[in-house]
Amino acid sequence: MQSLVTQEFAIRFGQRPTFIVRAPGRVNLIGEHTDYNDGFVLPMAIDRAMWIALRPRDDRHVVLHSLDFPEVGGFSLHEISHGRAWDEYLRGMAWGLQEASYTLNGWEGVLGSDIPVGAGLSSSAALEMVTAMAFSAVGGWEFIPDIMAKIGQKAENEWVGANTGIMDQMISASGQVDHALLIDCRDLSTRHIPLPTKATVVILDTTTRHTHTDSGYNERREQCEAAARFFGVSHLRDVALKEFKDRSANLDELIRRRARHIISENERVLKAAQALSKGDAVEMGKLMNESHTSMRDDFEITNAELNIMVQAAQAQPGCFGARMTGGGFGGCAVALVHEDAVGAFVENVHASYAETTGLDPKIYLCKATNGAEVVHRN
Ligand code: GLA
Repeated sequence: MQSLVTQEFAIRFGQRPTFIVRAPGRVNLIGEHTDYNDGFVLPMAIDRAMWIALRPRDDRHVVLHSLDFPEVGGFSLHEISHGRAWDEYLRGMAWGLQEASYTLNGWEGVLGSDIPVGAGLSSSAALEMVTAMAFSAVGGWEFIPDIMAKIGQKAENEWVGANTGIMDQMISASGQVDHALLIDCRDLSTRHIPLPTKATVVILDTTTRHTHTDSGYNERREQCEAAARFFGVSHLRDVALKEFKDRSANLDELIRRRARHIISENERVLKAAQALSKGDAVEMGKLMNESHTSMRDDFEITNAELNIMVQAAQAQPGCFGARMTGGGFGGCAVALVHEDAVGAFVENVHASYAETTGLDPKIYLCKATNGAEVVHRN
């Protein structure tokens, strides 16, 4: 992708780019819907990313060509308005940065991406973070990961209108090669956790789709808020499993199950971080399987295809564990698989899922990469 955006830049602008920046997509290993409950998540940045090759401009305009869309994106920093669909995240990020008092300079360039769109691998958060990195490079100010993540979340919530949490921006901004990232979504403190050396992270795309403006995501948020009110806390993060067991008898049955997912999931994330720190892929896999069951039965964010995919994955020899990942209601599952078994795993899961659903799944073997960075400067 780096060479593709560099080549296209040369064609468009007749020279080499001044900067090349990238920001990755992500897969969440465990900790789903816990971020907006002030809880814990354990995602990793993947080796699929948004790339921009660019050079500064003297005026305060942003002009961006995309390898994927024929329309040229762009806007004036003097007055940012809502625009075409694909550059909306750039506009939102520029708006958010200016709201946060960053002085922005104009630039022009070429955008390329190999993150599948709509699969739940956070192409939008990656676009926000790569945009922030582009502004930081031309403006000469420091890209501070958690501050940029917060501004990205604000762009997503207030500019784009998707009521999402902080996980996707945080991991795209601060991932580290060969590591997952334990994030405390209350204070945004982070810890890099090494991934098991003999295991491969496999993303299994059901090819069924969701959107964040889906009512399901927002409805889950409201149900979590209702449960927090019942326990008299600001967020479910503050309820321990024991307290939940002692006090939840009078809680509405549906809200009770929603809360049980969040509270048990927070515990699983912390146990998962411990397991990975010890290189224990078996324990990690067990926690992933439990997480899926909790999302299927208590939080009810899986669809039939996700359940079929996860079942097919869990049945394979060498699979430590598998679960749906991301917002849910479609999209991807993630599995942790022994490296020696990966070849057969991919073949068998593909065949089994295709046979049961009639759909052609997409399967990606992933490596954990660094978060947003400048990869080249002239
Ligand atoms: C989406 C949101 C995240 C998070 C996950 C669920 O990816 O963007 O903030 O809430 O869903 O864990």
